[in-house]
Amino acid sequence: MVRDIRVDYRDGGPIVITNANKPLSILKDWIKEAIDNNLIEANAMCISTVSQDGTPRSRMVLLKHITDSEIGFFTNLESDKATDIKNNENVAVTFFWPSLEKQVRILGKASEISREQTLEYHNSRPRLSQIAAYTSTQSKELDSITTLDDEFRKTEEKFENQKIPLPDHWGGYKILVHSIEYWSGRPSRLHERVSLKLQNNNWIEKRLYP
Ligand SMILES: Cc1cc2nc3c(=O)[nH]c(=O)nc-3n(C[C@H](O)[C@H](O)[C@H](O)COP(=O)(O)O)c2cc1C
Repeated sequence: MVRDIRVDYRDGGPIVITNANKPLSILKDWIKEAIDNNLIEANAMCISTVSQDGTPRSRMVLLKHITDSEIGFFTNLESDKATDIKNNENVAVTFFWPSLEKQVRILGKASEISREQTLEYHNSRPRLSQIAAYTSTQSKELDSITTLDDEFRKTEEKFENQKIPLPDHWGGYKILVHSIEYWSGRPSRLHERVSLKLQNNNWIEKRLYP
């Protein structure tokens, strides 16, 4: 039963902030650690948006862009998440790598990635992913999975021997981070938490009880 599942965290490792003005540097290190450990979907993150009626909605996406101040991902610009972001730029993001015993939580403001940057990323994707992005009217109702397969084949035929153009309905969002919390597992549930928040242009570091 789920209530009897219990993981005893041992050592996610200490959280050492060497430069609070580079708040995403530990996130970069932890993603690298996840990649180096061959973890599946090392760059997967859960992003929560808020719908027009105030309901939070969460789903997984893949991190595809990271700088010293922002993170980003690509998606359908007419999807539910995109509609939410158009109405409310505030988003929350969570990463969790169970075998590393590490979690990262982020709050930030989302805005669209430039078309140039999107085109560059689109051109780097495998052809089948480009066809899927062109074909899918993400988040809209689909009558059957055969319809999706038929539509995919039609897009393949339409662009036979041609490049798949960047669809107008596909793009990316960057999230300007104003709050980030690092969590690392320790025995007896005495986990480590360090929060960095941007206040009046300064990153304020605080430790939190687990
Ligand atoms: C591991 C994982 C990674 C995903 N990555 C993406 C992604 O990068 N972009 C995307 O649009 N959907 C991605 N999805 C699908 C989303 O979770 C979601 O089903 C889809 O974007 C529609 O969400 P929405 O209707 O809330 O807009 C991913 C799903 C999983 C399980």
